[in-house]
Parts: sequence; structure tokens; C-alpha cells
Amino acid sequence: MKSEILSLLRNADGYVSGEELSKKLGVSRTAIWKNINLLRDEGYVINSLTNRGYKLEKSPDVLDENIIADGLNVSSVGTKIKVMKSVDSTNEEVKRLANSGEESGLIVAAEEQTAGKGRLGRVWKSDNGGLYFTLLIRPELPPSAIASITLAAGYAVCLAIRDYTGCDAKIKWPNDVIIGNKKVCGILTEMAAQSDQIDYVAIGIGINVNHTEFPEEISQKATSLLIETGKKIDRNPFFKCVIQKLDEVISSFLFSFSLEDVQSFKSLCATLGRKVSVQRSGKTIEGTACDINADGELIIKDYTGKNICINSGEVTVQGIY
Ligand code: BTN
Repeated sequence: MKSEILSLLRNADGYVSGEELSKKLGVSRTAIWKNINLLRDEGYVINSLTNRGYKLEKSPDVLDENIIADGLNVSSVGTKIKVMKSVDSTNEEVKRLANSGEESGLIVAAEEQTAGKGRLGRVWKSDNGGLYFTLLIRPELPPSAIASITLAAGYAVCLAIRDYTGCDAKIKWPNDVIIGNKKVCGILTEMAAQSDQIDYVAIGIGINVNHTEFPEEISQKATSLLIETGKKIDRNPFFKCVIQKLDEVISSFLFSFSLEDVQSFKSLCATLGRKVSVQRSGKTIEGTACDINADGELIIKDYTGKNICINSGEVTVQGIY
């Protein structure tokens, strides 16, 4: 009932009378009034005027499945959206659901993660103001596609940030999105697979949206959309834009992935052309990042002129972090 009232108030051009709400929803005016008060308790600012009715003035900064799904036009990503107040990790929740048969396309988002996970066993601190979510897909692809799936997700996040904020977001291969030389988004992709076929992929995405500051140890490396734009971002429409881009990019990936897609990813990859170093089997590989191949792997030309393919790992990029 609350979400139906909200939807009517949101789509109204001004005040909506209690009578109109009660007629449209088939309940008494007292029930409407009670639910309006429940919404106020949740932080919605709703004006009421005698003889005119109710008007939504301001919504609280909470993720709302209904606002996000309203008008979303997707074919394979975000076909089902679940928003949770708190969860250990959205990746863990998606993996639990995937293991009990959940279909491809689900997105689970949470306001708070009590055990948010970063790459390489790190903790992903999930404070207020961020966007933390995981997407479940079941592509009919071999496990080797995992690197390009992660790149596709990063590329989609870049497009959404560029469209929504105008910031010059780029990919730091393989899993980060940066603005300038600072990280604004991290991606943790986890997979369950047979030897030649992926069962599912959980793509976990954490975006620094309205953070005003970061802990000392990462303050030189991290940024947020608020810091970059100077404006607080309304997370619901921004999230919708991210889902729309993920759907566009990943649908193409699932059904007709081509070298053109790789070209697009490359066009927004800040790592290419820079001096890089990466640890592999206890050795340091140093050289220049010169290309990304069809499997999403980074090709590094080392100082002897040899091309080395890297499919994962912590890459240090000169000039970034
Ligand atoms: C990294 O840069 O180390 C990757 C960070 C990924 C964080 C996201 S937040 C949503 C999802 N749930 C998690 O526990 N981790 C990912």
C-alpha cells in the first residue's frame, strides 16, 4: 500500500486528494492517512492541505526498488531487483540465491554490507552513501570469458558515470573504475563453473557515490562522485542509469560479443599506453600496457620487446595508484 501511494504521489503534478487516492487504491481515507504517516516516519516529507490533499516534497536517501524499476527498459540485466537494508555481502547473497536456482538477470543491492568483500581477500568498507550491488548472470560461455565479463561491467559503469555526471570515468584494468587518477568503483567478479562452461557469474560492484571523505590509508587513492562533481547524487536514478548501461553492454556480450566490443572497452581503458608492473608467480613483470585481447587479457610489452598476456592480478600503473 505504501509503495502504491508513493507511486501515485510521485507521478502527480501537485496535490492528490485523499479521496482520489482512496478510490484508486480501493481503501478507506483513514487507511490512506495512516499510510501517509507511516511514510513520514520513514523520512518522506509529505505536505497535506485541507481540500487539496497530499503532495510529496522530498524522499529520503534510501534505495527504492519501485523507483529503480519504474520505466527501466532491460532485457537481460536487472530483470529482477532486490534491495536489502543490510546483508553480509551482496556477492554472498547472490551466490546463495544462484546455488538455489535463481535465474540470470537478478540484481541484489544493499544499503549496508556487514562483511563487504574486496579483491584479494580485502575488506570493502560499505559506508552510507555508496552503491553496493551484485548482478547474477548465467552466460553460455567458457570460464575463460570471465576477464572480459568484468571488463564489460567496468565499461558499463564508466558509461553510466559519464552520462549521469559528465565525469571522465575510465577503466583501470581489470576491475577498477577511476576518475582522474583515483578509484571511484571496484568490481569483484566470482564464478562457479564446470571445466568448459560457466554455471553462473556474480559481478559485485561498489561505487563511491556520496562519500565526502575516506579513511587516511586510502584518501590519496579514492574519490567519489560527490567529490568530483561537488553535488550530492540522487542514488535511485543514478542506479537506474547504471543498470540500463549494464543491460546494454552485457546483453551484447551475451548474445553477439565481437572485437568491436573490445575496441569500445579499450577506448576507455586508462591502463593502455602506460608503464605498468605486475606480480606473477613471485616475479615482477614490468613494461608498457599495449593492448587488450578478445579474452579481455592485458598485453604487456616488456623491456626486451616480448609480449606477455596477463589475465588477472594486481597491476601497478604509473601515474594512477
Ligand atoms: C575491489 O576493488 O577490491 C572490489 C570491490 C567490490 C565491492 C563490491 S560492493 C558489492 C559487492 N559485494 C561485495 O562484498 N563486494 C562487491
